[in-house]
Amino acid sequence: MAVVQNLEQIIRTLIAALDDYLGRFNGPGVADVRAGVARFRDGPVREKAPNRIKAVDHVDTALSWMTAHGEEALAGAIRAAMPYLDWRAYDPYPREIIGETYATNHCATILIGEYGLIQAEDFDLGLFGFGPNILYRDHKHAAPELYAPFTGPNGWRFKAGEALDWRPAHQPVWNEAWAPHAFRSGNQPFLCVYGWTGNVSVPAEMILCDDWSALEAETAPFSA
Ligand SMILES: [Fe+2]
Repeated sequence: MAVVQNLEQIIRTLIAALDDYLGRFNGPGVADVRAGVARFRDGPVREKAPNRIKAVDHVDTALSWMTAHGEEALAGAIRAAMPYLDWRAYDPYPREIIGETYATNHCATILIGEYGLIQAEDFDLGLFGFGPNILYRDHKHAAPELYAPFTGPNGWRFKAGEALDWRPAHQPVWNEAWAPHAFRSGNQPFLCVYGWTGNVSVPAEMILCDDWSALEAETAPFSA
């Protein structure tokens, strides 16, 4: 069927574009994620019902930002796949702790994984994003994780109570298993490719902090 062939080509092109993107970097975790991609990418592409939630509007905004900031090819590969992607909220957290703003403004889609378009065992590769000026509050999980953000700046911290460390787009972050992390978008939505290299079905946990409202009120110190 032509539609299925088109889907397969578009998804394989997207995964190739994301793998090429990760190939720009040599920091911790990049090789682990690319090894997972290499292991599973040739599996069959499944047809999955696409799903769009309101927060996916932020992904569209992020793609426009990428196009305006020298990433036309990567943004184009993602945009071509958008009609086929199953976007969901990742919500293992109590809503009153993660916060209503984050809960209703984030989304993720799994490309390679148990629930992805290409099946994998204990490995996930996907896209993840949320709206501008939003803090993804402190949390931790068993899965070692790579985030490679296409947009920026984003403010990061890896210990409860510390100040945010603001970084531009295209600076990957590797979180070891159960390492705490929190991060906040600036005036642009956050959009990244993420990889989880093991323990992917263990739910993430929040880390309670008393300075979230201060971080949420902070202004990004630079714009790109
Ligand atoms: Fe995380």
